[in-house]
Amino acid sequence: MSALIDLSYIAASILFIYGLKALSSPATARKGNLISAVGMLIAVVATLFDKHIIGYQWILAGVLIGTAIGAIAAMRVPMTSMPEFVALFNGFGGIASLIVGWAEYERNLPSWTQGVPHGGDTPIAFTATAIYLAVLIGGVTFTGSMVAYLKLSERISGKPFLFGGQQIVNGVLLLAVLGCGIAYAVAPADTYWLFMLAIALSFVLGVMATIPIGGADMPVVISLLNSYSGLAACAAGFIILNTVLIVSGSLVGASGIILTMIMCKAMNRSLGNVLFSGFGSVTAKKSGAAAQGEAKALSPEDAYYVLEAAQSVVFVPGYGMAVAQAQHVVRELGEALHKNGAEVNYAIHPVAGRMPGHMNVLLAEANVPYEQLVEMDAINPMMDSVDVAIVIGANDVVNPAARQDESSPIYGMPIIDVDKARSVFILKRSMASGFAGIDNPLFFAENARMVFGDAKATVQSLLAQFKEN
Ligand code: TAP
Repeated sequence: MSALIDLSYIAASILFIYGLKALSSPATARKGNLISAVGMLIAVVATLFDKHIIGYQWILAGVLIGTAIGAIAAMRVPMTSMPEFVALFNGFGGIASLIVGWAEYERNLPSWTQGVPHGGDTPIAFTATAIYLAVLIGGVTFTGSMVAYLKLSERISGKPFLFGGQQIVNGVLLLAVLGCGIAYAVAPADTYWLFMLAIALSFVLGVMATIPIGGADMPVVISLLNSYSGLAACAAGFIILNTVLIVSGSLVGASGIILTMIMCKAMNRSLGNVLFSGFGSVTAKKSGAAAQGEAKALSPEDAYYVLEAAQSVVFVPGYGMAVAQAQHVVRELGEALHKNGAEVNYAIHPVAGRMPGHMNVLLAEANVPYEQLVEMDAINPMMDSVDVAIVIGANDVVNPAARQDESSPIYGMPIIDVDKARSVFILKRSMASGFAGIDNPLFFAENARMVFGDAKATVQSLLAQFKEN
């Protein structure tokens, strides 16, 4: 039976890796999700045959309660709340690893007090260190994720919370946690109180590490916390010597950190800058030169005449498209333009929206052909030959201040160069700023026109005119 379980774990690990690979392209992402889910099912079923299980009643209760909560939440949570939902998931992953570590400590303690390893020959110091890491990383992940959740769901202010000497306090906390860890790993049977102190400190550290980070940077932090939850699970795998937990934890840990780095690169910022700079604490007035001039508004009726004559059109979706749930009508407008003879593309900025791949997911849901989705680096060189760039609820990702204004907080962030197109239509409800809270000089550019209103209503009205004429 044990060999069969190990074989199932290998099969599950292979499926996880294939699943991850397939997730890297929109065309195969759904398949990737399914492959990984099958891998997880195999891993869970195989684990149920483990000889260490002493009863199924608690497992069954956990499965039933967890399934009910997960299913209801998945059905009720809107797409726009997905990032905070992911933050909650990470937090629960972290606390689960902490509980595994703590439970194992309690289970091992009687043997360790006698100076012998519990039920096997793994050295006490090895198990004790793995327990400590699972508890520490799990605790930081739990409270850090809860703060991320509260900030993103606007239950607490999304502004960075900064105070003098914050980094010193955090440094001291980190040193204390490491000191406790070393003292505990040397004599785990006699340092119960240090272990408890470390749990408390890890909770405090999670909060302290996340409060200085502003709401705009939360998706990066969530990805980092996701990576931590993987590392905590990996440590838990080393405690109970479960290979599939070690493999899946490492995969989550590695992919989380890769995604974090991709996002930092897309914003032209270092991870250190995201974690420690308190980005977003400066107000719009202080940050960069205020955009000046008079924005010119255009009605959807007039916008239609320009679009009707356009040979090439690029849609640039952003967070507002998700809010308006405009992706289906946008695809229909794209089809109408294509039928009218225009070349149509969708330019995807890596951090448009509020979570990685946000725009890809929405456009895939609306069945936009994958070959029309063009990444920022590929679309920018073509931008000056585009007749109309239609910005749908995007703001920061098309803000030319990132290129031109050295005093802007987003200076250096790569953007989609819509200002280089012959005409730019900006579909949004007002002149309000985007998530970074800064003015956008694009709105005042010669070739830009504001088409005010809810993005879905505006696109619907444009579409209606294509259908009428
Ligand atoms: P934003 O800059 O946040 O702008 C979104 C715009 O959508 C707003 O200015 C808003 O203007 C408009 N809007 C909202 N509801 C609308 C509706 N119903 N109809 C029409 N427009 C609507 O979005 P973005 O350009 O996608 O940039 C994303 C931001 O998030 C960047 O600052 C990025 O750095 C940050 N961020 C994202 C990620 C990921 S992974 N995506 C990670 C880290 C940071 P009105 O209120 O005037 O309508």
